[in-house]
Amino acid sequence: MKVLITGGSGLLGQYLNRFLSKKHNILSLYFNNPENCIGYNSKKVDITNYQQLSEIFTFFKPNIVIHTAAYSKPEVAEKLNYDLVYKTNVVATKFLVELCNKFHAKIIFTSTDLVYDGFQGQMLSEDSKINPLSIYARTKLLAEEKIKELSENYIILRTSLLYGLALNNTFNHFTKVFNDLKEGKKVKLFYDQYRTPLSLINAVEIIEDLLIKDVNTEVLNFGGLERVSRLELGQMLCDVVGFDKSLIEKISMDDFPELVKVPDVSLNTKKLQSYTSLQKTILESIKEIIKYG
Ligand SMILES: NC(=O)c1ccc[n+]([C@@H]2O[C@H](COP(=O)([O-])OP(=O)(O)OC[C@H]3O[C@@H](n4cnc5c(N)ncnc54)[C@H](OP(=O)(O)O)[C@@H]3O)[C@@H](O)[C@H]2O)c1
Repeated sequence: MKVLITGGSGLLGQYLNRFLSKKHNILSLYFNNPENCIGYNSKKVDITNYQQLSEIFTFFKPNIVIHTAAYSKPEVAEKLNYDLVYKTNVVATKFLVELCNKFHAKIIFTSTDLVYDGFQGQMLSEDSKINPLSIYARTKLLAEEKIKELSENYIILRTSLLYGLALNNTFNHFTKVFNDLKEGKKVKLFYDQYRTPLSLINAVEIIEDLLIKDVNTEVLNFGGLERVSRLELGQMLCDVVGFDKSLIEKISMDDFPELVKVPDVSLNTKKLQSYTSLQKTILESIKEIIKYG
């Protein structure tokens, strides 16, 4: 299968390159970080430039587009000009959908759990109330709406916190916590922020499974099996690796007045489970992260 990956130089994109290139013909797109795609078939493209995207589609003719490129950090997007975030997160998605329709390709879009209103006594299902609180989440929801309106063949993955070790010059909170604990430094973790985290390794395994199955025009919660706080995730990491748990300090989101607070967007993933049986537990995933990096 010919798979076009946007955001191939990103946190998730690099795991997609690594895993999907084993069985598929991939073309991985980067923007400012070419070095993150070394060793893979890759190209520089600004996804907000329709002409550049059109040339890529004409040349590569993908069967599937996995669209991960975005302004992906809520705290960064919040400080940027709204039009810039909108152009990258929404307009570029519209361009990609139009080209997918033209070239009869499926689009798999990584949206976010932050589109939901939050936990109200039960895990969130795909038809739970929507209430994006940040510019990041609002633009991801607008991108979802463009896809639903225009696309002939799509999967929207409302993605939970992705954990695992960040490659090259990408970043995630888990990697910082891992490195700090390894060096014997103290870490501060929220006891009052809950997610259903999914490991990067497990995420790409599931995406590969969805690629080869006949899943179409679906919105799926894309998370792990367990609802945990950031603190509990850190404690599980200590249990598996043998890091000193006393280095972890419990903190509250209330200690950070400037934070856009989303206490709990834990996902019910029953619908995802109707398509795949590949979800792993957190303990299994952490063992895998330690083993394979
Ligand atoms: N990480 C998580 O925990 C998480 C959770 C929920 C949802 N998601 C979603 O999953 C996706 C992947 O997240 P991530 O953490 O892997 O993101 P990331 O590490 O921030 O990567 C973002 C990617 O987008 C690319 N990009 C940005 N603007 C571009 C442009 N104008 N043209 C071309 N490429 C552009 C970047 O390219 P360069 O680096 O080369 O400039 C980079 O490859 C995002 O859509 C995010 O919203 C992530």
